[in-house]
Amino acid sequence: MDHKTKLWMVFFFFSSATYCVVGKPQVPCLFIFGDSLSDSGNNNNLATDAKVNYRPYGIDFPAGPTGRFTNGRTSIDIITELLGFDHFIPPYANTHGADIVQGVNYASGAAGIRNETGTQLGPNISMGLQLQHHTDIVSQIAKKLGYDKVQQHLNKCLYYVNIGSNDFLNNYFLPQHYPTKGKYTTDQYAAALVQELSTYLKAIHGLGARKFSLVGLSLLGCVPHEISTHGKNDSRCIQEENNAALLFNDKLKPLVDHLNKELTDSKFIFINSAVIRLSQLKLQDLVKCCKVGSNGQCIPNTKPCKARNLHPFFDAFHPTEVVNKLSANLAYNAPAPSFAYPMDIGRLVKL
Ligand SMILES: *[C@@H]1O[C@H](CO)[C@@H](O)[C@H](O)[C@H]1NC(C)=O
Ligand SMILES: *[C@@H]1O[C@H](CO)[C@@H](O)[C@H](O)[C@H]1NC(C)=O
Ligand SMILES: *[C@@H]1O[C@H](CO)[C@@H](O)[C@H](O)[C@H]1NC(C)=O
Repeated sequence: MDHKTKLWMVFFFFSSATYCVVGKPQVPCLFIFGDSLSDSGNNNNLATDAKVNYRPYGIDFPAGPTGRFTNGRTSIDIITELLGFDHFIPPYANTHGADIVQGVNYASGAAGIRNETGTQLGPNISMGLQLQHHTDIVSQIAKKLGYDKVQQHLNKCLYYVNIGSNDFLNNYFLPQHYPTKGKYTTDQYAAALVQELSTYLKAIHGLGARKFSLVGLSLLGCVPHEISTHGKNDSRCIQEENNAALLFNDKLKPLVDHLNKELTDSKFIFINSAVIRLSQLKLQDLVKCCKVGSNGQCIPNTKPCKARNLHPFFDAFHPTEVVNKLSANLAYNAPAPSFAYPMDIGRLVKL
């Protein structure tokens, strides 16, 4: 072996060592429900416009474009690392060669709590379908572990649920495609969404889940695409859409209290993404990094900005990795209950 090869091997060892975590993860398994904020490739083979397995997405991700809607890792990827996993959770659409016993990612770009959400972009994997996929995975895990052991295993997993943004962005606030805005006030709609989510959560609980991290909505009115399509003055956040997100969060937090009382064998926590986003005001200049098409996604093969650490948004919808990292750290290790209630993910997994 020549000197150069040895150096490369040493380099390879150290660069891969950052991915190698010594010891076991803090939970034996992690299941992820959600939308493009958590998707890691479930839409790649769907006939939907909501897919991004092309450059410049993934420019800062070791494997390049994977279907993640950002330049690097998603927030749940970073939480996965903080939990001590030595790999990212595989997407349901491609669990080939993966150990599903350690968890599966069902999240799908454009998905919502409601079945019709996001369907103007093509076929969808709504929360209801994600639950069906989980039912399928649970029966596969039961075959692997044995029916006597599967519940005990599933009880220890973390269930991360981050969904609802599209029920506003790709439903309620698109009255040209959906009738919901004519039928419900924003408050009624938020209540109906949280009610429907609650039904899904109880079904997931019925499949053995006991530790839930529920993620609230971020400031939807500050998403660049909303400002450019609905803004009257293109530098300011849309108040109506921010209010909608806050109304949703105001109902999700009491749901956490309610479920903790009703399901005494379980623990639910609420991650307040709106407060987390407000704490990132330094990055709040709302500048996106790539050139986007009318769908708000990066135009394929265009060159993104160089200073990705200084841009809060990668495309017109999705945060850059640097923002995801801040959000993940605050959800995992919250400095105050306003970020994570009644506890953060780091404490939840130690229960
Ligand atoms: C969206 O998903 C639902 C099932 O969850 C399905 O009934 C519907 O046909 C899908 N819509 C499209 C456009 O594929
Ligand atoms: C939504 O879709 C799921 C999965 O396809 C289905 O089981 C459920 O009945 C649907 N819900 C409504 C309200 O249509
Ligand atoms: C947009 O808002 C800024 C302040 O945020 C104000 O100075 C400017 O006049 C507004 N422009 C229009 C067209 O309303």
